[in-house]
Amino acid sequence: MAKFKVFLTRRIPQPAIDKLLENNIHLELNEEDRVLTKEEIMEGVEGKDGLICLLTDTIDSEIMDHAGSQLKIIANYAVGYNNIDIPAANARKIPVTNTPGVLTDTTADFTIALLLAIARKVVISDKYTREGKFKGWGPLLQLGTDVFGKTLGIIGCGRIGSAVARRAAKGFDMKILYYDTKSFPELEKELDMEFCSFDSLLKSSDFISLHVPLTKNTKHLIGKKEITKMRSTAFLINTSRGPVIDERALVEALKENRIAGAALDVYENEPELAPGLNDLENVILAAHIASASIETRTKMGLIAVENLLVGLEGKIPPNCINSVIYK
Ligand code: DGY
Repeated sequence: MAKFKVFLTRRIPQPAIDKLLENNIHLELNEEDRVLTKEEIMEGVEGKDGLICLLTDTIDSEIMDHAGSQLKIIANYAVGYNNIDIPAANARKIPVTNTPGVLTDTTADFTIALLLAIARKVVISDKYTREGKFKGWGPLLQLGTDVFGKTLGIIGCGRIGSAVARRAAKGFDMKILYYDTKSFPELEKELDMEFCSFDSLLKSSDFISLHVPLTKNTKHLIGKKEITKMRSTAFLINTSRGPVIDERALVEALKENRIAGAALDVYENEPELAPGLNDLENVILAAHIASASIETRTKMGLIAVENLLVGLEGKIPPNCINSVIYK
């Protein structure tokens, strides 16, 4: 007989599901490849010992209470956990886990892909060629901006931010500026990078890449005022969380060419786009895929399951966000 009942809100890579089954978990899985409604999550989690959820699932106190007091763990299939009400989990002594580490390099690779693609007009050129408009090489055709040797401003220099900095400094000889709540002297030495104020990063960077978690302090960190401080030739890249940018302000700035362009993987009201964003040529719009490689999504699944299994046994799971509950 299965010892634990678990609800998984959407299919994740098969090795992770196999691991749940090998561990004799009674699994209830949403087989439809779509985000569940709050009511459906409530129904699914009722009477379960564990929940594996995704960044697209908002897990609030009502869901936790509906699950019942036997809910032993909430394992998020993401490194970001702004979708979960952590104070509510703390109040109910439910451990919450995430999947840090395994998606760092994949996300950093994708950030560089976006940076190169927006600077060198890769998406515009692809569309143009597919549409049969390419009539041969032209000296002024689709001129972009060089990347090598330029200045990259990293906002949030944690795991992913520093992996982006490393690629940019070592691979493209970029000058790195960074802003964070603390400094990283070792990394500064390794990459010859410079800690600077938020304002001077905005003013001095050719490219700005965002790598902060979404909190009440980082919501709209980049708004009209901040964009105004950026160079008119600068590009903004976001692979963190959409609400870090005031998307309407960004659309206005891009329309008026106040900055050169933006490459976004995440959106303020995902999957919706701010009015007008879709019509702009100076923006690349990806579908929140920075961590989307087979290898990484599989590792994220295995880590989420590992966290879940340990939590189910009443032990502190490896990637516990709220270990304060054990004190
Ligand atoms: C995360 O894990 O937080 C990422 O956004 C998923 O791609």
